[in-house]
Amino acid sequence: MKILFVGDVVGSPGRAMVKEYLPKLKKKYRPQISIINGENAAGGKGITQKIYKGFLDAGAQAVTLGNHSWDNREIFEFIDDAKTLVRPANYPDGTPGQGYTIVKINSIEVVVINLMGRTFLPPNDCPFRKVDEILEQVKARTPYIFVDFHAEATSEKQAMGWYLDGKVTAVVGTHTHVQTADQRVLPKGTAYITDVGMTGPYDGILGMERSAVLNKFLTNLPVRFEVADGRDQLNGVVITVDEKSGRAKSIDRVLINEDSPFFE
Ligand SMILES: [Fe+2]
Repeated sequence: MKILFVGDVVGSPGRAMVKEYLPKLKKKYRPQISIINGENAAGGKGITQKIYKGFLDAGAQAVTLGNHSWDNREIFEFIDDAKTLVRPANYPDGTPGQGYTIVKINSIEVVVINLMGRTFLPPNDCPFRKVDEILEQVKARTPYIFVDFHAEATSEKQAMGWYLDGKVTAVVGTHTHVQTADQRVLPKGTAYITDVGMTGPYDGILGMERSAVLNKFLTNLPVRFEVADGRDQLNGVVITVDEKSGRAKSIDRVLINEDSPFFE
């Protein structure tokens, strides 16, 4: 079994890349489930119902979020009805939406969990204890458990990878928008990468238009960030899973841009 995950989709350039390449990636890798992080999909911040549905139409089965979950206010109108949209599970009790979903593909069930780090991010509930709670609820049901850990600090992400080694199929990091080259299967069978990277502008700064970001660094004055235009990229991972145990056999990076062109 294979899982395809596409890293943080930024604005309309990212959505266009998903529309163009998700079908091609599905044809190439034949994943049973495709998951997208969509927290930056609406103009760089948040997600709308139309965008969420567009991801499902393009071939995804689940969409994860992060610290920008609430930045487009439309989310509050549809998140409770969006069965395969997942916001970080360690928001306080009573937060709208769900922290995990179970996707059924033929006879297989895959648990998709979203968690958010607490280092350099808002002080949410403990993601380590929260994931333990979720695993208690789901582990008897299926061995296929995918975790998107949306976090800033490399150390916190590595800690989560090791914490969950042998307990879940994969822990993939998101949020920094830069793909790391440390993908591996940990000793007890959990696929891990510190950050999957982003999907959208290739020549921006984390997907944003460069001059505004540079102004911020040069002046410290408030600036308005816009999604960059120009060349685009797609970053993701493909995880191959042992069907019996639910543990990972391999994890490979996916990188599509003008310097690393896509081959069918
Ligand atoms: Fe983020």
